Amino acid sequence: MMCSLWRGTLLTLTSSLNRRVFQCCRQLGRSYNIASCMPEAVAFQGVSDHSGLYKFSVNESDRFWGAVARQRLSWISPFHTVQNCDFSQGKIKWFEGGKLNVSVNCLDRHVQTCPERVALIWERDEPGTEVKITYRQLLELTCRLGNLLKRQGVRRGDCVTIYMPPCPLAMASMLACARIGAAHNVVFAGFSSEALADRIRDAQSSTVITVNQGVRGGKVVDLKRTVDQAVQNCPTVQQVLVAMRTENTVPMTDRDVPLEEEMMKEDVVCEPVAMDSEDVLFLLYTSGSTGKPKGLVHTQAGYLLYTSLTHRYVFNYHDGDVFGCVADIGWITGHSYIVYGPLCNGGTTVLFESTPVYPNPGRYWEMVERLGINQFYGAPTAIRLLLKYGDEWVQNYNRSSLKTLGSVGEPINTEAWEWYHRVVGDGRCPVVDTWWQTETGGICIAPRPADPEAEIVPGMAMHPFYGIKPALLDTEVVTGDGVVLQSAQFPAFLRLRLALCYNQYCPLNCATPLLGFFFTGDGAHRSKEGYYQIIGRLDDVINVSGHRLGTAELEDVVVCTIIIMFGLGVYVFVVLKKAVMVEEDVLAQQLREMVSRSIAKYACPDFIQVVRCLPKTRSGKIMRRVLRKVVERNTDELGDLSTLDDPDSVHEVIRGHRRLR
Ligand code: PRX
Repeated sequence: MMCSLWRGTLLTLTSSLNRRVFQCCRQLGRSYNIASCMPEAVAFQGVSDHSGLYKFSVNESDRFWGAVARQRLSWISPFHTVQNCDFSQGKIKWFEGGKLNVSVNCLDRHVQTCPERVALIWERDEPGTEVKITYRQLLELTCRLGNLLKRQGVRRGDCVTIYMPPCPLAMASMLACARIGAAHNVVFAGFSSEALADRIRDAQSSTVITVNQGVRGGKVVDLKRTVDQAVQNCPTVQQVLVAMRTENTVPMTDRDVPLEEEMMKEDVVCEPVAMDSEDVLFLLYTSGSTGKPKGLVHTQAGYLLYTSLTHRYVFNYHDGDVFGCVADIGWITGHSYIVYGPLCNGGTTVLFESTPVYPNPGRYWEMVERLGINQFYGAPTAIRLLLKYGDEWVQNYNRSSLKTLGSVGEPINTEAWEWYHRVVGDGRCPVVDTWWQTETGGICIAPRPADPEAEIVPGMAMHPFYGIKPALLDTEVVTGDGVVLQSAQFPAFLRLRLALCYNQYCPLNCATPLLGFFFTGDGAHRSKEGYYQIIGRLDDVINVSGHRLGTAELEDVVVCTIIIMFGLGVYVFVVLKKAVMVEEDVLAQQLREMVSRSIAKYACPDFIQVVRCLPKTRSGKIMRRVLRKVVERNTDELGDLSTLDDPDSVHEVIRGHRRLR
């Protein structure tokens, strides 16, 4: 087993990439100075450019992160040790001895210098009805909510579940938790009541915050009703705080607290709690390759520092810019690049409630013009969708405010990349394809920061960020080659018990676990120039429209089926128990309802194929790679079938697949 630089196919891969190199973001006529870009760099002797700074950040990790943390965060008391990590023990500790409050870093210190600066622009579902909230107002909201939570009995160390669409009160709820020392557990408001109940129980929340109804794409969604169903099975829940997004009243019980009414009774001052650097900031559930979703833990100082640093440098964010990340706050992208990164930097951040096609496919770009967005950060799935509607929907609007375009969540194919660059960005904005995960808290691989004239290859995430050391696993170990992060080396990596179980990851054919490395589950190639290209998942996690889903989680719901990825959707193979006689249409309908009820609508299967049996090895393992090839219509490349138990099973699957399509 080897962890090595990838030496094989990368050259052909790079050349197959339609290798047009874009020299983006030229700052013509301006001499480039690393110290003016990153003030801390002055303290790092001999560092004069980005590659020098990157080397310094990984070789002199303590000095790098120590200086950055002192410069960028406001501390109540200073830390004495930059890092204390022992991955073999699952120990990851950063900035020990330090005390701080995340909400103070995100709000109070900006209120002192620029209270009337707009902190957030709530881009409501109805176009043209945006609401702007200044730092002073957001601090007031946060303090009132913090006081209300305390009155309801929430204490330091408790975990509050937030089930809300993107709205100012959702953001204030997250910050209010941080202010009073509680952790938050934001659950994406598209999840079903069962999925919500699982997460509330796992986090042992006594308090849930929600809204009466959500509004998205012109449709009203009964979120409070979903919470009512969920909490029936959650004995820990004592109260549900209900904000009003629409004017419709919803049934309220003794447990329910009208949020706006009660928070207005509270004081606008709420003393921030001094938190240890390593206290929990939040839990966020994500799909893994086995079983139920895992609650990942991120802590205070390291996470905040890393998200603010990446926000500043990957997107080249400057004071006064309007940052438009169109993710939902229920995912890590929303946590890191709508809330914590931008607010820590005193930025103006957009909170997008709608969809890319409501009321029409020009929505994003009309919003860019109206709000003057400078950095736009979205997902390839939306870009691919919009490019199908044609260039006019983009060109109808003035996008001259745009400076940087970001992409996240899944690989961005060359066609989408070029359209994004050429049409949306008028060929003048760098496209930063950013690779990272819920586990990493913030962006790990991206084309920037780099010399502004450095090349960006379409579809490549390019370079590791400061402090990140990716390593690729050799093909002898897994099929394909994977990105492996040396996780203990950067401050935002996930914490606690989970570090231990990730640490136990043991690749196929490998007798001992890979100590010190974290297996990301993604395949990647590295070019001879050292540029990274992310290929996609290698494990049993699939990516559906930029959302992560564990096949095991789905298989839990639809018993006796196997799910594999097909383009953007989910393809399910069903093996019926012999006794079951059912029409395929009826079965498909039932399966979709089950998945929608147990997980979320976005997880619903797109294709369902009933088969007599699945291709298995003689030792009984399902040959998922064969199924994948069938679905991808690559039946000439089924690979080695010598261990197949029943060769007819493959032919049957192929025949059935042809009938279906
Ligand atoms: O497979 C990778 C894909 O999204 C996974 C992480 O999903 P999640 O934890 O939900 O976080 C999503 C937002 C960071 C990764 O393991 N992924 C993320 N960004 C990219 C990507 N795949 C290719 N290119 C990317 N830029």
